Amino acid sequence: MVGFFYALECTHANLFYLCAMQQKDDILKEVISHAKEYGFVFPSSEIYDGLSATYDYGQLGSLLKNNIKEYWWKAMVQVHDNIVGIDAAIFMHPTTWKASGHVDAFNDPLIDNKDSKKRYRADVLIEEHIEKIRQKIEKEVAKGIKRFGDDFDEAQFRATNPNVLRNAKKIEEIEGRMKESLGNDDLEGVYNLIVDLEIACPISGSKNWTEVRQFNLMFSTELGSVAGDAAKIYLRPETAQGIFVNYLNVQKTGRMKIPFGIAQIGKAFRNEIVARQFIFRMREFEQMEMQFFVRPGEEMKWYDYWKEHRMQWHQKLGLGEANYRFHDHIKLAHYANAAADIEFNFPMGFKELEGIHSRTDFDLKQHEEYSGKKLQYFDPELNENYVPYVVETSIGLDRMFLAVLSTAYTHETLEDGSTRSVLSLPPALAPYKVAVMPLTKKDGLPEKAKEVLNKLQYDFSCQYDEKDSPGKRYRRQDAIGTPYCIMIDHQTMEDNTVTIRDRDTMEQERITIAELNAIIDQKVNMKYLLMD
Ligand code: GAP
Repeated sequence: MVGFFYALECTHANLFYLCAMQQKDDILKEVISHAKEYGFVFPSSEIYDGLSATYDYGQLGSLLKNNIKEYWWKAMVQVHDNIVGIDAAIFMHPTTWKASGHVDAFNDPLIDNKDSKKRYRADVLIEEHIEKIRQKIEKEVAKGIKRFGDDFDEAQFRATNPNVLRNAKKIEEIEGRMKESLGNDDLEGVYNLIVDLEIACPISGSKNWTEVRQFNLMFSTELGSVAGDAAKIYLRPETAQGIFVNYLNVQKTGRMKIPFGIAQIGKAFRNEIVARQFIFRMREFEQMEMQFFVRPGEEMKWYDYWKEHRMQWHQKLGLGEANYRFHDHIKLAHYANAAADIEFNFPMGFKELEGIHSRTDFDLKQHEEYSGKKLQYFDPELNENYVPYVVETSIGLDRMFLAVLSTAYTHETLEDGSTRSVLSLPPALAPYKVAVMPLTKKDGLPEKAKEVLNKLQYDFSCQYDEKDSPGKRYRRQDAIGTPYCIMIDHQTMEDNTVTIRDRDTMEQERITIAELNAIIDQKVNMKYLLMD
């Protein structure tokens, strides 16, 4: 609805851009409120007013999340005979994080406003300033559209209008200064940029800033009863290191031959300075990571393979091919020789969903050095020992959840003028596959419906619903994404047939109870998605 009114006013590409930004904000808000209303995601410890950037998955959210995990695990581990899975501890020996570089380099530049006492990521403050300038450009273009209508030549306007050009140059200069300062670890340069741009605190409005400092994103705590630095341990900021330190254990006990992979799903923790956009950036989140160990020199072949393979995994879900794109990194981390993100078109725009990184032998070599243990592989074909190279695929489970939920959510107007909220989730991921309903609460229909439920619930996750009118019950199931509703009516009592209603088309078909399990299985079983 909201989208419709904005769309009415959007008559040209740039007006459309401004409207689309507003629309996207509204869609995210609608998704957040829908997620809460139907038991998908709640703010954590809400009775105490919540804890920022921390969320709990409710009764439906945890089912959806588990199904996403299952889809990933089966695609990565079950159908690859050279990939195995582990479940490493969140706490690890503190030297792990020294070796991996996280103690020294897993930092964000932060700055405090002395008046509001609010803390900001310095680079985000600058990016927000740039975004304001960008909006000025779009407003200028929008004015041109209004003035010249269909005769407006947007490309020429952008290339010649003095205001647009001045602002574009400003952006270029700011971005250049920011990149240079951050790249050289020049925190004073970042501070000077904030001062030169006269950036004010959004809360206090003052420009009274502290210096810029590096802020390590790892959460730390103390082990046992001993206090002090010796007992300091960290909550893992990525699951990957649990795989690296177990490389030899798994290779030897699993008799794994290169190339092989180790996969893991688990929690990771980052003390993000700016955590926002719902479950997109959290302080406690879950990752699904796989490290693929390969012969040195063959990493680019596998990097290309996994880029392609991971994109296919996403596309099979049917969320829309145009919603994905690759973003190849130009500036690489010191340990990588290639890296790309799979970006998804979230309600906030295209953002990173998954990373594919060719990490060379950096991590294993670092752990060799810090632990003094050899982490090598004897390659019988080459008759030589080497430290394997690693290609990593790393996806945030919560981001995947948001991608699925936000794309599935629609609020639509039906032919009769009524409206419905529907989650068109991929059936294999839907929390419930089937809802079983008796038409009325009498004439033995509930008993028959329970019989049908019993026949289905060992194969599928099912809901039973007998309250309210059939129309209301269908709407409830649409809103939680149940792909099929089975209605038990008076005809069922005569000929053992039921109606099956499709969530997306809302069409109903009559089928026999005997064929129910097989028909539903064809439509919802994850196996068909994986085999496709
Ligand atoms: N082991 C590599 C690694 O951790 P990363 O790009 O820092 O790489 C991988 O993280 C993925 O984890 C990201 O693509 C994203 O989906 C997810 N992720 C990272 N930080 C997150 C956060 N604060 N909240 C939610 N998901 C996050």
